[in-house]
Amino acid sequence: MKTILVAGGAGYIGSHMVALLLERGYEVVVVDNLCTGHWQAVKAPAKLRVGDVKDQAFLDRVFTEFPIDGVINFAAFSLVGESVGNPLKYYENNVGGAVSMLTAMKNHNVKKIVFSSTAATYGEPEKQPIEETDRTDPINPYGASKLAIEGLLRWCDGAYGIKYAALRYFNAAGSNADVGIGEDHHPETHLIPNVLAAALGKKSLELFGDDYPTPDGTCVRDYIHVRDLVEAHLLALEYLDRGGESGPFNLGSGDGYSVKEIVETARRVTGKEIPAAMKPRRPGDPPTLIASNRKAKEVLGWVPKRGLEEIIADAWAWHQSHPNGYEG
Ligand code: UFG
Repeated sequence: MKTILVAGGAGYIGSHMVALLLERGYEVVVVDNLCTGHWQAVKAPAKLRVGDVKDQAFLDRVFTEFPIDGVINFAAFSLVGESVGNPLKYYENNVGGAVSMLTAMKNHNVKKIVFSSTAATYGEPEKQPIEETDRTDPINPYGASKLAIEGLLRWCDGAYGIKYAALRYFNAAGSNADVGIGEDHHPETHLIPNVLAAALGKKSLELFGDDYPTPDGTCVRDYIHVRDLVEAHLLALEYLDRGGESGPFNLGSGDGYSVKEIVETARRVTGKEIPAAMKPRRPGDPPTLIASNRKAKEVLGWVPKRGLEEIIADAWAWHQSHPNGYEG
């Protein structure tokens, strides 16, 4: 495997993937329509082709131009709240994009894909930590669109021999400030970047609900460093290349932290006061999501190395050096 196509490689997680692939000596081709991604996040010598993954002719051109050995597909919409108000947008973009990508792979005889799935495929799990074999029953169209693609991947494996790893992310955070990339979403809905924006005095922090059935009443999540996350993608690609069996893998640390614990840790790491106002619950938030990462550890040999302090410290380094994101 030499040349890897990264769809959505200008986005937050995709750009960290590109940086790791370059570091490990791969040739990298990025396709991205830049609707949420940033061209500045795609570092040389990766090659960027601007276009939409739903555009079959565009994808076929890219697969003809480069000798693609494997695909890592990040390109998708991922705002849970927006997906509830506009399910067609999510199915059209996420499922539609996966259909064209798999069609291009079939047309050009490319047999390996690592796909970004999500903990949102589980909905409201019956137990913690969550295992891959637990029931999947999404409670929003975003999670449902990803689960639909997991189904499509299974069928494409059976029909065309396209091997896949569907990586179910828990809460990705952190940055790779060394190479100048980090999290820059518009709007930003995620907790850690919002906490750090408040530390910089750029916006006021709201915490959504302290009446959940959790130890301190705020939601518990499993935060995973984006650099650990992308390492798992590379291990998954190598695993498929060795003939590994297709399937889903949870990517989380296995540790849960409450919203209040995140704010406390950020206060310690930044040395800032970070005022926070308690607000009502945000619709659609499950109380607790913690991954069992046993399968990714055993099957892929994945070892997440970076804990919560490092996640927040690295995100803080990026936010301090880029207070206005990539435009700043
Ligand atoms: N939160 C706040 N204030 C904020 C932002 C978030 O209190 O300003 C709270 C949320 O209500 C939630 C927790 O912080 O309780 C974490 O929220 P995030 O938005 O950071 O992350 P989510 O767990 O909601 O979302 C993540 C991924 C989604 C994925 C989802 C699956 O980012 O892509 O997990 O449940 F769909």
